[in-house]
Amino acid sequence: MDNNLKQLIHLNVNGEIQEIMVESHWSLSKVLRNGCGHTGLKEACDEGACGACTVLIDGIAVPSCMLLAVEQEGKAIETIEGLSKDGKLHPIQEAWLEEYGAQCGFCSPGMIMSTKALLAHTPDPTDDEIKEALGGNICICNNYEHILNSVRNAARKLAHNAGGEK
Ligand code: FES
Ligand code: FES
Repeated sequence: MDNNLKQLIHLNVNGEIQEIMVESHWSLSKVLRNGCGHTGLKEACDEGACGACTVLIDGIAVPSCMLLAVEQEGKAIETIEGLSKDGKLHPIQEAWLEEYGAQCGFCSPGMIMSTKALLAHTPDPTDDEIKEALGGNICICNNYEHILNSVRNAARKLAHNAGGEK
């Protein structure tokens, strides 16, 4: 790749500023995975249809394959790697383990990030609200019942963590 076509950008990923050379047409998903080492998010459809690449941008769950990396400077980007702290899983990740939310696990990072966005503004969601919030995340293992239970469990855990991270 010709470096002359690249430009230096600064991305705020999980609270850390990362400097990276990118081309103007590169998607955020590619830059996060290949340039920043955040391989938790997955790339599958590359057209915004499966949710495997979901990250949070300023708290909103979005498919990162649909965003240009060069347009994300100054925004707070959160990936699945930012959830666990000091070797301890985030309550949403714990809920996923307890409820068998991951079968093959391919969809899990995106599902979990969509769940984080949902529970931040709707701490006690109805099943319909959960299904709507995760509607852009596809599970090819058809593990939806376990995923629904995982979100319900995550909501209970966060509700019990008064003052805890959401
Ligand atoms: S890879 Fe981004 S939505 Fe499918
Ligand atoms: S657990 Fe396999 S794609 Fe969802």
